[in-house]
Amino acid sequence: QTIRLSDYRPANFLVERVHLTFKLEPDATRVTAKVRFTRNPDAPAGTLDLELNGKELTRVSARIDGTDVPQNAISTGDETLTVAADHVPQDGFDWECVTELDPKSNQSLEGLYMSNGMYCTQCEAEGFRKITYYPDRPDVMAPFTVRIEGDAPVLLSNGNPVDSGDGWAEWHDPWPKPAYLFALVAGDLVSVDDTFTTASGREVALKIYVRPGDEDRCDYAMDALKRSMRWDEEVYGREYDLDLFMIVAVDDFNMGAMENKGLNIFNSKYVLASPETATDTDYELIEGIIAHEYFHNWTGNRITCRDWFQLCLKEGLTVYRDQQFSGDMRSHAVKRISDVVQLRARQFREDAGPLAHPVRPDAYIEINNFYTATVYEKGAEVIGMLHRLVGDDGYRKALDLYFNQHDGQACTIEDWIQVFEDATGRDLSQFALWYHQAGTPELDVTDSYADGRYTLTFRQTVPPTPGQPDKKPMVIPIAYGFLGASGAEIGEPGLFEMTEAEQSLTVELPEKPVPSLLRGFSAPVILKRETDNAERAFLMAHDTDSFNKWEAARDFARDLIKRKVIDNAPFDPAYAEAARAILTDDRLDPAFRAFALSLPSEDALSMAIAADGHAADPDAIFRARDALDLHLAEALAADLERVGEAMQIDGPYSPDAQAAGKRALAARTLSLRTQLDSSAGAAQSAFLSADNMTEQLSALSILVRFGRGGRALDSFYEKWKGDRLVVDKWFSVQATATPPEDVVGVVQRLTDHADFDWKNPNRLRSLIGAFALANPVGFHRADGSGYALLADWLLKLDPVNPQTAARLSSAFETWRRYDEGRQSKILSQLQRIADTPNLSRDMTEKVTRMLDA
Ligand code: ARG
Ligand code: ZN
Repeated sequence: QTIRLSDYRPANFLVERVHLTFKLEPDATRVTAKVRFTRNPDAPAGTLDLELNGKELTRVSARIDGTDVPQNAISTGDETLTVAADHVPQDGFDWECVTELDPKSNQSLEGLYMSNGMYCTQCEAEGFRKITYYPDRPDVMAPFTVRIEGDAPVLLSNGNPVDSGDGWAEWHDPWPKPAYLFALVAGDLVSVDDTFTTASGREVALKIYVRPGDEDRCDYAMDALKRSMRWDEEVYGREYDLDLFMIVAVDDFNMGAMENKGLNIFNSKYVLASPETATDTDYELIEGIIAHEYFHNWTGNRITCRDWFQLCLKEGLTVYRDQQFSGDMRSHAVKRISDVVQLRARQFREDAGPLAHPVRPDAYIEINNFYTATVYEKGAEVIGMLHRLVGDDGYRKALDLYFNQHDGQACTIEDWIQVFEDATGRDLSQFALWYHQAGTPELDVTDSYADGRYTLTFRQTVPPTPGQPDKKPMVIPIAYGFLGASGAEIGEPGLFEMTEAEQSLTVELPEKPVPSLLRGFSAPVILKRETDNAERAFLMAHDTDSFNKWEAARDFARDLIKRKVIDNAPFDPAYAEAARAILTDDRLDPAFRAFALSLPSEDALSMAIAADGHAADPDAIFRARDALDLHLAEALAADLERVGEAMQIDGPYSPDAQAAGKRALAARTLSLRTQLDSSAGAAQSAFLSADNMTEQLSALSILVRFGRGGRALDSFYEKWKGDRLVVDKWFSVQATATPPEDVVGVVQRLTDHADFDWKNPNRLRSLIGAFALANPVGFHRADGSGYALLADWLLKLDPVNPQTAARLSSAFETWRRYDEGRQSKILSQLQRIADTPNLSRDMTEKVTRMLDA
C-alpha cells in the first residue's frame, strides 16, 4: 500500500502527556501506557475516531477514562487500532492500555529488543508501534514520563532522572517529542563519565554506557562529544537543553546510530575505539557520527518533521552540519574530497538507477527504504548550495530564523525554504526543484575565446527517473576560476548562478585560460567538458582549488582506464608524471596526496563506462584498473620508498587528521611498491611491525589482494578472535580484497565459519555486504554465482530482519550497466526474490522498484 504526501492530514487527537511503565521480562514485558489525549484544533469538525498505531502487539487491556473500551468499538488493521468516534470523548480523555511484548524473540532490531542480554529500543521510523498503541507519527509530540521495573543494574530512558530504587527507575523528558525519539535501555552496563559546561554556565553530565570491559575504548567518543557540544554553541548558537546526555553502545543495530532525546543509541562500532583495534577511518566515523547524533538535538528533536516525507529536513541538515564540523576539526579540503567520493559512490549510483527518488520523495511503501544516500547526502548537498547562494550571513540569518520560529514544531521542507526566503528576500521557488526532481543533472560546457573575451556556455539536462520523465532546469551554482598559461590564477574567481537550460558566462581575460569549474564541487552534478590530458596534467599541477586539483587527477585516471577498457589504448605517461609531482610535493597535505594518488573505484568506472553507452565489463575494468596501478607503480618506483619513509611517525599512535594523512599516504606507497615486489616483503614486514590497527589492516589488505594473505589472515584471527569489531574487519578484508577468481568460494566458505553470526547486522554486512557492495569484480562474476549468493542471504535474512535485508538488496540496483548475460542473471535473482511467499513489505518494495524500471 502506497503512502502519499498528498494524503497528509492532521491527527484527530494530540497528546498532552504520556506515562509509560515497563515491567521488563525477556519474553513477557508488560507496558502500561497512560496517555492524555486532547482534540487537535487543526482536525476537521465533527466527531472523530481515535486512530492509533500498533504492530505485532498483544493487547491486555484498553480503557478510556477508566472504563474498558468495548470490543465492538475497536477495529484493528495490520498496524492500526481505531476506536469508533462515539466511544471517544471529543474534547479530551485518558487512554490507558496494557500491552505485552516478547523482546527476546524480536530479531528485527526494531521496537524493544535484546542485544547480548540487554534491552534496547529502536523506534525511528515506526518502531514505537511495536511497544504500545499510540499515534506513531512525528507531528504528535508530547512530554514523556517513563517508569522502568526490572532487575538490570542500569535502567535508562530519555530526559532527566526523577528517582530510582532497587529494581526501578523513573525518567522525565520535559521536551515534547514524537514517539520515534523514545528510547529505553536496561542491562548490565558500565558508564564512562564526564561533564560539559554550556555557554550559559549550566553543567551537563555526560555518560557513555558500554558493556563491562569496553570502558577503556570510550575516550575518543567522549572527546568528540564535548567538541560537538562546543561547536554547536559557537557556530549555530545551540545549547544543550537537559542536565544529562547519554550514549549507549549496542552490538546489534540496523543502522549507524539514533538520536533519541538525551539517550543516543549507537552501533558499538561508532563508539568504541582504541589504537590497537580501530582504524583512522573508524576514528573519523566516530567523530562524525557522534557529532551527527548530537546535532540532531536541535535539527531533528527540538524541530522535527511533520511526516516522513520530510525526512531530509532533519537528515540533510544534520549531515551538512556534521560535515561542516568534521571540516573544522580536520581539513576542509580533504573532507570535501572524501564527502564527494562517497556522494558519487552511493548517491550518484542511486540517482542513475531504478531506485532513484527525489530528496523529498512524495510516495513510499516502506519508509525504512528511504533512509538513503539521496535523502541524507544529496539532502546535505542541497543545503550546501543554499549556503553558497545566500552567503555566510544569509545562511546564519536563515538558521536563526528557523530555530526561533519553529522550535517545538514538526515542520516541512516548505517551512525550511520559507525561512531562507524571509531571511534573504530571495525567491527560491526554482531552487526548490532540488527537493522535488530526482536524477543527477548533467552539465555540458563549451568555451571560446576571442578579442580578449572568454565565454563559457553551459547546458544542463536532468535525466528522466522513475515516475519523472520530464524535468525542468535547476538552479546550479557554478564556482569557477581561471588559470593562465604560466599556471597563475588570472581574472576573478566567482560564482555563476545558472538557472536556464542553456546559459553563457563571458569574462574579459588577457589570454585564453584553462578554466577550473565547479570548484569545491559547488553543485552535485556531472560536469562534461571536452578536454585533453595536457589540460588535466596542468590542473593537477596548478589549480589553486584543491578539490579541482584532485578532480583533475581523478578525471585523468578515469579516462585512461576507460580508454584502456574500450580501445586498449596505452596509458599516457603524462598522468604518472603529474602524479609524481604530487607524490613528492612536501607542501601538500599527505592526506590530499593519498587521495590524489588513489584510483577511481571499479564501481565508479563501470558507472562512467555505462554512461558512455558501453556495457560495463567488470573483469576488463578490474584488469585495466590494476594495469594503471602497476603502470603508476613503475613510474613512481624511484620515489615510493622514500616518501613512505618520510611518512613514518615517531611516538605513540594518535588518531589526529595529520597523522592519519601520513598513514594513508604511507599505505598508498606500500600498495604501489607491492605491485613491483612479488614476495610482498615490505607489506609482510609492515604487517608484522604494525602497532596500530590502521597499519595492520592496510598491510593485511595489501597481502590479501596480492594473494599472500594466508598466514597473516590466520595470525590476525588468532590474535583478535575475541574482539567482535576486529573480527568484522577480518571478514571484510577477505570479502573485498581476495582476488576475483577465488572470492566467491572464499565468501561461501566464510559463511560457514563459526563466527559468522548472520543475524548480527555488522557481521552480515562485513561479509555479504562487503562482497556485494565493495568487490564488483567478484560480485559480478559472469557465471552469476555472486548474484545467487547474495540472493540466498537476502531470502534468509528477510523474514528475520527485513530492514537490513532490504537495504542490502541495493547491491542489485546497477543491473542496467552490464551486458545482457549479467542483466538477465541479476533479473532472475530479483524475480526469484519477488516470487518468494511472505516477503516483507521492505523487500517487496525494493525488488519491485528494481524490476519495474
Ligand atoms: N535518525 C538516524 C540517523 O540518521 C537513523 C535511524 C534510522 N533508522 C531506521 N531504522 N530507519 O541518525
Ligand atoms: Zn541522522
